Amino acid sequence: MPGGLSPNVKVLVTDPIADAGLDTLREAGHEVETAYDVEGEALLDAVSDVNALIVRSGTDVSEAVFEAAPDLVIVGRAGIGVDNIDIDAATEHGVIVANAPEGNVRAAAEHTVAMAFAAARSIPQAHARLKDGEWAKSDYLGTEVNGKTLGVVGLGRVGQEVAKKLASLGMDLVAYDPYISEERAEQLGADLVDLEDCLAAADFLTVHVPLTPETEGLLDEDALANLEDGYLVNCARGGVVDEDALADAVADGVMKGAAVDVFAEEPLPEDSALLDVDDIVVTPHLGASTEAAQEHVAVSTAEQVVAAFNDEPVLNA
Ligand code: NAD
Ligand code: MLT
Repeated sequence: MPGGLSPNVKVLVTDPIADAGLDTLREAGHEVETAYDVEGEALLDAVSDVNALIVRSGTDVSEAVFEAAPDLVIVGRAGIGVDNIDIDAATEHGVIVANAPEGNVRAAAEHTVAMAFAAARSIPQAHARLKDGEWAKSDYLGTEVNGKTLGVVGLGRVGQEVAKKLASLGMDLVAYDPYISEERAEQLGADLVDLEDCLAAADFLTVHVPLTPETEGLLDEDALANLEDGYLVNCARGGVVDEDALADAVADGVMKGAAVDVFAEEPLPEDSALLDVDDIVVTPHLGASTEAAQEHVAVSTAEQVVAAFNDEPVLNA
């Protein structure tokens, strides 16, 4: 199908994306179908005659999906993380995988900052009690970020944006990222250190690495023991932080609190110990959920799908 304009491109969208993205596909003459919340056999049936598939984090694009979709040319990920897509299987089946690496960076960084404050000032807990008719003023004594140290694990796009925002609120910066240059860290005013030193120096630790075999379980019980009296914010990926170890560290008072947007099991991590600890603030993977970010990633992903069938370069493949 690549090699010229085709009026017969069929695009399946299995996680909700902004209308502007759907419009971009339709304006290019593509047939667009949406099928949200399909999984298992229903997903395999749904992809059997599609040329493009667009997902967010809610669809598991496994090897079975590639096997069930002989006409698939491109999978578009309307967001950053591609950990829900079997990249090896895509390569084996000759399918392009393209993401939208820029569009939700600010949204994710702003949510991270909001979550840091939510944990440091117990905003959700106090809110819930006041709504229940309780004036619990004397139960909450928070932590200021000014003059404290922020540890950033993963100083990429989102990590850098968070570092800039929190530095402007008076935080000192340390970072652990073996893949960025000392020079870039220096430009941001961050000391590049190893993981243990990053945790030991941090009053607040914020996680911004992708989920890979190398980062899975990176923040385990031993690592978290270095974050004594600190707060951890994870708006990157579940699986990077050991949920049981984090729940125990906060419940036992080793750490002051945590804020978590992403879980090893999604949606609804019913068995996650994080849901049972009062000093852990949680949100249901909302980091990218702003109007601006959703419009941006939807349009960017749709444009890449259109490019693939116009024989144009797919920029974020
Ligand atoms: P990025 O690729 O720009 O940055 C990731 C950084 O992690 C890079 O600098 C890389 O060098 C570093 N890194 C990789 N492996 C590492 C390791 N083993 N140890 C330390 N550092 C390592 O990615 P990004 O755009 O900043 O996104 C970061 C994460 O946030 C991704 O997992 C993404 O999916 C997630 N995210 C979540 C939301 C949300 O809704 N909660 C929104 C946007 C992004
Ligand atoms: C991402 O990696 O971009 C996030 O998971 C955002 C999302 O799609 O919800």
